[in-house]
Amino acid sequence: MQGLMAMNSSNNLPSEEVFCLFQALIKKRLGIHLPVYKRVMLGHRLFKRLISTNMNNFSDYYRYINTPENAAELETALELITTNETFFFREEKHFEYLRNDILPSFSPNKELKIWSAACSTGEEPYSIAMLMKDCYPKAWSLSASDVNQTIVNQAKKAIYLDERTSLLPEEYRKENCLKGTDEFEGYLRITPELRNKVTFFQFNLLDDMKKLGTFDLIFLRNVMIYFDDNTKQNVIDKIFHLLNPGGHLFISHSETLHGIEHHLKLINPAIYQREN
Ligand SMILES: C[S@@+](CC[C@H](N)C(=O)[O-])C[C@H]1O[C@@H](n2cnc3c(N)ncnc32)[C@H](O)[C@@H]1O
Repeated sequence: MQGLMAMNSSNNLPSEEVFCLFQALIKKRLGIHLPVYKRVMLGHRLFKRLISTNMNNFSDYYRYINTPENAAELETALELITTNETFFFREEKHFEYLRNDILPSFSPNKELKIWSAACSTGEEPYSIAMLMKDCYPKAWSLSASDVNQTIVNQAKKAIYLDERTSLLPEEYRKENCLKGTDEFEGYLRITPELRNKVTFFQFNLLDDMKKLGTFDLIFLRNVMIYFDDNTKQNVIDKIFHLLNPGGHLFISHSETLHGIEHHLKLINPAIYQREN
């Protein structure tokens, strides 16, 4: 009991009360719902920031990031909360369906507009770009965004550990990647030609999306998993209006729109279409 008390009151874990403050802040700013069992995760991810800012505990750190002059530290804290796991050609079935069924269905000369809406370090949009370059000879443009600016900067650099690219088809690798040498041994970099095909920017899915224009294909994969139903509903309502009639929305196979009201038609696992 004594040991347990000591652990709970130690400085590297927020108390339940302080955790609730962070929980509300993160929900408001990112839409991410952190269940109570993520208290330890929150502690791990933010503890180094407590040290860097000379704060004694999470309560002080919470107060610190909520003062206007420490807005930059608040952004740093929020970035540390996002989970950015991704890889090339993740959920391959989506790419097969895009190549074999969706792309051939667009009329000749149709210029396709695509958005990767939670692109993390860029593997998703570069996978899409490689496929488009290979299979869609007509014009297309690809936007890619994420709420985390540091991650977006990394995506623009487009440098990846070779050993994390196992699903990248060999011919795509040869065509679109440069092999690192010297200090970049073991890394690859996306070619400038393909990098130039993707427009990266920072964007929060909670914000007004109208200014983004409309799209034929939207990838919104492995992000709604962090949202509660209310937030999901809001995001899906906005996304619907951004989809051109006939356009497609890709979510993750581990996500569902069950319980969300929408006017999209499920046409393949985790792929929806706006009919009109
Ligand atoms: C697990 S990654 C998914 C990456 C990629 N879409 C995939 O499926 O591999 C989730 C991404 O969602 C981003 N994210 C979280 N909340 C967001 C929000 N409110 N607006 C935009 N992006 C958000 C995170 O920064 C993170 O990079």
